[in-house]
Amino acid sequence: MSQQISRKARRIIITGGAGFIGSNFVYHWCQQYPNDRIIVLDALTYAGNRATLANLEELENFRFVQGNICDRTLLDSLLQEEQIDTIAHLAAESHVDRSILGPGAFIETNVVGTFTLLEAFRQYWLAQGKPENYRFLHVSTDEVYGSLETNDPPFSETTPYAPNSPYSASKAGSDHLARAYYHTYGMPTIITNCSNNYGPYHFPEKLIPLMTINILLGKPLPVYGDGQNVRDWLYVRDHCQALDLVIHQGKPGETYNIGGNNEVKNLDLVNLLCELMNELAPDLPVKPAQNLITFVKDRLGHDRRYAIDASKIRRELGWTPQKTVEEGLRETIIWYLENQNWWRPLLSADYQAYYQASYGQKFT
Ligand code: NAD
Ligand code: DAU
Repeated sequence: MSQQISRKARRIIITGGAGFIGSNFVYHWCQQYPNDRIIVLDALTYAGNRATLANLEELENFRFVQGNICDRTLLDSLLQEEQIDTIAHLAAESHVDRSILGPGAFIETNVVGTFTLLEAFRQYWLAQGKPENYRFLHVSTDEVYGSLETNDPPFSETTPYAPNSPYSASKAGSDHLARAYYHTYGMPTIITNCSNNYGPYHFPEKLIPLMTINILLGKPLPVYGDGQNVRDWLYVRDHCQALDLVIHQGKPGETYNIGGNNEVKNLDLVNLLCELMNELAPDLPVKPAQNLITFVKDRLGHDRRYAIDASKIRRELGWTPQKTVEEGLRETIIWYLENQNWWRPLLSADYQAYYQASYGQKFT
């Protein structure tokens, strides 16, 4: 890539770098920019896993800091001490079902935490004389746009916000703050709104890893409602490549939608996962895996359809996703089959308590 030839090394904080997208992004960044200083700031909630980054801990240019984005004192000292010029903000409470069970943590991390981070960066950026090359990337979701009907056009950057869950409402709040910091203070923030990601290091309670693991363990596959809800799936490493481009070539104050152009109904996706597992996993306890599909009570306020129009990032930054959903899912399943030592410890007592609260049935 041309940016690698002329590029000055960056000093970046990646918040939420022990989570799903965050850890994939940390690996991406370390591979692409081995001369950068890379700080991961993560509170290690249930969704954060330091072991995911174990391969990087020996690197001299890498530092892991366990800490909360709501901790202003910590943020001030990290920014100063590490002379940070770039923030990639991925820390969040990210699971819609958890936001329905308990919205408080979503307001705290997604709204108050993002505000605290923006404000700490603003004061620091001001004190440094407002350098033009500084960047604050706020990573957000397509869910802020609400829900589409079958024939509606996909979400574009000008679609009005209409969040429907406590999760998406808290993300919408944080997006508005990031936007306001550019418009009011000129701070170089950029927002991305992405569709559903999948791939390695995805926490077991989200749809794709949950179904994959349940098939392997011979447990029911809980499909919400009629299974006809549509999501637009994107391979996580394609998302990381888009975030990289946005940091280097995106315009401050802008929003970029990122999507896979892969709209799939949940039930079709689960059937595809079953087919792939029947083929790839030896000795499944229940075969064919389709026999495990169980329709369960719908998610409250369940958005019917998401779809992203990613033409702006394609046109302006030249980004397109590289993986088809068939290729990406096959690779992801193989990853889960080969990395059981990563996900098995995550099926802990906490996970089982969450499962019981969310599905009204025991996991074990
Ligand atoms: P995740 O839940 O897997 O990881 C979140 C990480 O943030 C965890 O490591 C957690 O420990 C950390 N964290 C949570 N609260 C924190 C706090 N207060 N301080 C510091 N760290 C904290 O989430 P994800 O799926 O990787 O999502 C990352 C970001 O991307 C989120 O902002 C999410 O809204 C957005 N996003 C996710 C998707 C998706 O499909 N997963 C799609 C679009 C956008
Ligand atoms: O669209 C981007 C969003 O995608 C991100 O902002 C969120 O952080 C991320 O979690 C994801 O949200 P979803 O709610 O779309 O993902 P989830 O994996 O929870 O569910 C995907 C779909 O599958 C959704 O329609 C609900 C359904 N579902 C989910 C689970 C966990 C089921 O039918 N059964 C399940 O057990």
